[in-house]
Amino acid sequence: MRSFLGRDVLSLKDWERAEFYRLFEVAQELEPIARKRRNSDLLAGKTLVTAFYQPSTRTRLSHEAAMLRLGGSVCGFADAKMTRAGDFYQESIKDTVHMLEYYGDVIAMRHFQQGAPAEAAKHCSVPVINCGDGWGEHPTQILTDFYTLHRTVGRIDGLTILAVGDHRMRTMHTLCYAASQFDLKLYLVAPPEMAPKKEFLAELDELNVQYKLAESTESVIHDCDVIYMEPVVQADYTKSRVEAGDVQKGITPPQYKITREMMLKKAKKDAIILHSLPRMDELPMDCDHLRHARYWEEAFYGVAMKMGMFALILGAAE
Ligand code: CP
Repeated sequence: MRSFLGRDVLSLKDWERAEFYRLFEVAQELEPIARKRRNSDLLAGKTLVTAFYQPSTRTRLSHEAAMLRLGGSVCGFADAKMTRAGDFYQESIKDTVHMLEYYGDVIAMRHFQQGAPAEAAKHCSVPVINCGDGWGEHPTQILTDFYTLHRTVGRIDGLTILAVGDHRMRTMHTLCYAASQFDLKLYLVAPPEMAPKKEFLAELDELNVQYKLAESTESVIHDCDVIYMEPVVQADYTKSRVEAGDVQKGITPPQYKITREMMLKKAKKDAIILHSLPRMDELPMDCDHLRHARYWEEAFYGVAMKMGMFALILGAAE
């Protein structure tokens, strides 16, 4: 297994199975710190720099929370408009990260351009974490999801996952790449205009991912252990910011939704629902109190997973 020390996290395409489990092992060791709502001093003296060129609630704040829980510090920006990258100068990724690398020990970046964090990693001497790049990938979201499965279901191998939503989404790409390292079956459900691209499916074939395309949530839900949801009413992830405009809630076609009734009558009794959030109407709020709903627990497991990731990357764990 490769060392995590000083490693970028740009994609899960090249992650090996043992690396997922080593990360989960360290995250679980550190989990009591987060559970007790205490801060430790494991990463005292280390600083996380957050460079978010797109809005975020969960991803930025959970990275920051993880660093703070380990006794480190955080600086950064959550709106590039307030930096020289977002004003008249349109400062390049290269010039920006050449600065940021002197302000901290690891950079967490979200960007509207696919490949921007990889570009940043080429030009700086500290590790870069991809926190979502355009339609590209979202590695720490899927590490959070898989850690949540590991901790709440107790296994990843042997599960059947229904992945419903916009399959152009970065989260869906990373889910499918990560699935290549586990004995997982995937059902992929999306509106035709949001279906996985042929080239992407060819890549999954090459990686020996076990997937089937399906028409609707309802047609396969009976066979699934995990219902993994994304909206089909989506922002354009290639834009720095997308205002709500006249997008109305309540417009997801029924094939790409779940309902409380569907969970009660058609889902497996022990099926769980994960959603990376934010949601639109594909996941109605009356599902929130079903035992199947695990998307709130993910907020906790996401912090623990990121604590493990920072400990490994910054050398506090081997
Ligand atoms: N899951 C996720 O990426 O959420 P945020 O956009 O709030 O970070």
